[in-house]
Amino acid sequence: MALDIVIMAAGKGTRMKSDRPKVLHELAGRSLLEHVLHTAGEVAADRVVVVTGHGAEQVEASVRAPNLQFVRQSPQLGTGHAVQQSAPVLHSDGITLILNGDTPLIQAATLRALVDACAGDKLALLTVTLADATGYGRILRSAAADGTSTVQAIVEHKDATPEQRAITEVYTGAMAAPTALLKPWLARLDNRNAQGEYYLTDVVAFAVADGVPVVAAQPQRASEVLGVNSPQQLAELERLCQRDQAEALMTAGVRLADPARIDVRGSLQCGVDVSIDVNCVFEGAVSLGHRVKVGANCVIRNAAIGDDVVIHPYTHIDGDTLGVTVGRGSLIGPYARLRPGAVLGAEVHIGNFVEVKNSTLADGAKANHLAYLGDATVGERVNFGAGSITANYDGANKHRTEIGADVHVGSNCVLVAPITVGAGATIGAGSTITRQAPAGELTVVRGRQVSLPTWKRPVKPG
Ligand code: UD1
Ligand code: MG
Repeated sequence: MALDIVIMAAGKGTRMKSDRPKVLHELAGRSLLEHVLHTAGEVAADRVVVVTGHGAEQVEASVRAPNLQFVRQSPQLGTGHAVQQSAPVLHSDGITLILNGDTPLIQAATLRALVDACAGDKLALLTVTLADATGYGRILRSAAADGTSTVQAIVEHKDATPEQRAITEVYTGAMAAPTALLKPWLARLDNRNAQGEYYLTDVVAFAVADGVPVVAAQPQRASEVLGVNSPQQLAELERLCQRDQAEALMTAGVRLADPARIDVRGSLQCGVDVSIDVNCVFEGAVSLGHRVKVGANCVIRNAAIGDDVVIHPYTHIDGDTLGVTVGRGSLIGPYARLRPGAVLGAEVHIGNFVEVKNSTLADGAKANHLAYLGDATVGERVNFGAGSITANYDGANKHRTEIGADVHVGSNCVLVAPITVGAGATIGAGSTITRQAPAGELTVVRGRQVSLPTWKRPVKPG
């Protein structure tokens, strides 16, 4: 049986008070719409239709998924009107699952249960019971003699009587309907209601009138169906989502100093016996090998960290599009900065206030204090002294610095690229190196030191 999914994403999101379309606001590093699309992908629909309106071009450009299609809704005349726009591209039979684009935590298992409840011949609604149901559509049921009840209609909050407003079972915004029945129901909608909108929820009364059974299914957790309408709700959902991710990490054996103080905005893969101190942020795709320790207040984005690496507090690693690789047993930080294209071998030491960009450091290389390595190739066991830098940029172009194995660069040196320092060379402290430094030799560029024994310090007259 064909399964079509319609995601409504045309609304403005007025309460976000933002120029950005609501569904493009981010939760855990992905847009709200990406979350819903990802979950939709897990239920293997034959077609996914996103209804766009406000900021349509931006929304359409922001996502890609298999079997994805957009339809535009302009103007936005209500949820029923939104789904009407999708009717021409839906299959003629099978099931249509309708979702809100602003409900990012909904789970695939819940959607599958809703589709199963529909079974191709019933209208299935996802409902929850809320202590405070203000604003939601209420589920009207009629009781049967045997104590069961059947759904009769959904009444929107603004149209509800005080008695109806006392109902705590609400419609979550997700339903699964037989497509062949849904299409004529959509055509029958009108906008004679408190908001002058075409309500999708009116199809429930049509189903009842047509003798089509209406069933209700519930999500595994009520929090799955929370929607984002304001910055407050977005922040609330972010915390829920982060808490879930922290739980999943701990279940997998990761030791978190405080599950309330970690943010994962993307994917974080961890080996065995990983420990993460407080206030760390992981973005994009990050992998941590076995026994990695991450100190407090680190930000790590798009990076692969090898086994037994220790990342000390306040380290910033940003692989951006090139990535960062840190080899086994390396020590990074505190206060280190690894930028895109930093590729560190095993047991490399990068200490405080050291920046590495687009550079390869072979096994055992060390830059422990106050240094910059940009566009450099650094050999094994090199010791790059405090305050030394590669001057890789001449104002127009970037040039490479090649440093052979076992080189010792003293403190406060400037290696003006392009330049090669031969294996085993020593660069004397304070040197500005502009020409090739031969292997195995001491190269030093420095004014000769003089002492003047008869020199007198000036004194003030009088
Ligand atoms: C809707 C339901 C309500 C339910 C609630 C759950 C209707 C009439 N009401 O109300 O029963 O309890 O969701 O959150 O369906 N949208 C469009 N085009 C439009 C209007 C809305 O694409 O013309 C989209 C919005 O972007 C949003 C979704 O539809 O993703 C829901 O719209 P919203 O205005 O939030 O509906 P509610 O009034 O909350
Ligand atoms: Mg809403």
